Amino acid sequence: MFITSRITVLAAALPAVYGTTVKSPTPPMGWNSYNHYNCQPNETIIKQNAQGLVDLGFRDLGYNIVTVDCGWAATTRDEQDRLQWDKETFPSGPEALGDFIHNLDLKFGLYSGAGYRMCGLPDTPASLGYEEIDAQAFADWGGDTLKYDNCYSTSPTEMVDVTSPESQSPDRFITMEKALNQTDRDMQYFLCQWGIGQNVPDWTAPLGNSWRMSNDIFNAWRALWRIVNQAVPHVQHTGPGAFADLDMLIIGLNALSVEEEHFHFGFWSMLKSPLIIGGVLVEAEIPASSLEVMRNEEVIAINQDPLAKAAALVIRYTEEEWDVWAGPLSDDRMVLGIANWKNETQTVEVDLSLVGVSSAASRDVWAHEDGSISGVQTFELKPHELRLLVLSDIETTEKPSSIAYYSVQDATVGGQAALVDCGADDCLPNHLKVGSINADASVTFEGVSSAHSGEIFVGIDFINYEYTHTIGDWATNTRNMTFAVNDNEAKRWAFPLAGGDWYETGRLMVALDGFVAGDENTVVFSGFDDGHWAPDLVGLEIFE
Ligand code: GAL
Repeated sequence: MFITSRITVLAAALPAVYGTTVKSPTPPMGWNSYNHYNCQPNETIIKQNAQGLVDLGFRDLGYNIVTVDCGWAATTRDEQDRLQWDKETFPSGPEALGDFIHNLDLKFGLYSGAGYRMCGLPDTPASLGYEEIDAQAFADWGGDTLKYDNCYSTSPTEMVDVTSPESQSPDRFITMEKALNQTDRDMQYFLCQWGIGQNVPDWTAPLGNSWRMSNDIFNAWRALWRIVNQAVPHVQHTGPGAFADLDMLIIGLNALSVEEEHFHFGFWSMLKSPLIIGGVLVEAEIPASSLEVMRNEEVIAINQDPLAKAAALVIRYTEEEWDVWAGPLSDDRMVLGIANWKNETQTVEVDLSLVGVSSAASRDVWAHEDGSISGVQTFELKPHELRLLVLSDIETTEKPSSIAYYSVQDATVGGQAALVDCGADDCLPNHLKVGSINADASVTFEGVSSAHSGEIFVGIDFINYEYTHTIGDWATNTRNMTFAVNDNEAKRWAFPLAGGDWYETGRLMVALDGFVAGDENTVVFSGFDDGHWAPDLVGLEIFE
């Protein structure tokens, strides 16, 4: 099921440095030691979990990589400058461990870093400056994949440098890729650069089989909001052989409720993230419900769909705390995800014309139930439920049609907010944006047309490149903006990241109430009073 192939299409269009790294056409799947064992794995632990992949049925579902994360290496290199495995914790050595894993018909996943030291281990050398020696050692040990981290990138003492150009540079990751390509062993290359810097997927998508696009997942529900919103501009670069990695799963770690584990696994699946188990694969140590979540074949099939296209955000209702995501699947099918971020039951109405569907057969992949949907469909969602549907036999319809576009050029800017003239390729479509929008500022559009009175769909073109390298606190990478239509009360909307820098436009579709048919509507944008900037505003498109 999990076949690797050489993706040569990309290589042809790019410099030779991107070469022939082995890439899986669908997202990598497997198990990694870090989320449970941190930097303290050992031989017994790795073997036990490898065996668990087989015994609990995971291998046969496609989870076939066993990765030993941080904590395997000794603190010194040997006389030939080769990294060594810690002899106390891995007494049999890497070749024997590799044989054990290969004998189970699994792949041996290795881990190092493009810095002076391994993450979390200031005394343990990593691969910077030793790339060729290390790549050869990885090959000699029988490694099949390499997760390549980004700690101590600029000094042996500072673990996390997310701001310096050297730390953000592709160079160290390219050097290792070249070294891997000089060995005679096929290896999948998993970048763990955390998405720092600008326009990251432009180089990570062609270079790696996957690339981590955020700081580490945290053992709590709130980590999902941060990562999913940060993933938006990355997953649009996902395709066969190149997968934005939302980080390892926290399923089975007592971090989430069963419903939240469905939500997490479903989101990772429809966004085509690698599915890397972080729980302990020993029946007595992991809830049966968690095993069931990760063994759901219908959800795995969404993740492993041959089109390898990630779902995108279709519409967001921020104050109501739900949104709709959708993406294409093979055989003219579609995945539809309706996400209830709210910790309460709620009934929502989804206008399927937003995804060009008038009616379809629908399969609820969590409930294992067939049904059908059409028109404006009502769903009752449980607290923190992601309703995940595979649509087939789709009858299409026109998506809502545009009746007018207003650029910030047409608006009146008040307070600190300021018009910015962007470059020719920037701030599309009109090369202008309004920045510095805080709660005291306003951007007012007058004479806005509407085909009818009441609620209408409005596409907001915005820019947000709030990269937050946060893990455990509540900080997020969304930015809030309020809109008021005519004399109605302002409402708040949360914007995900838009693109790869502060000049790449993103689109958020919303439903706004309070319009009056005709050409006399006023829409006022402002920052939300949370002490943070709003996203930059580019324009708005009014739909019929
Ligand atoms: C982080 C990485 C994690 C884990 C950790 C090890 O940089 O993102 O996935 O590998 O290092 O300390």
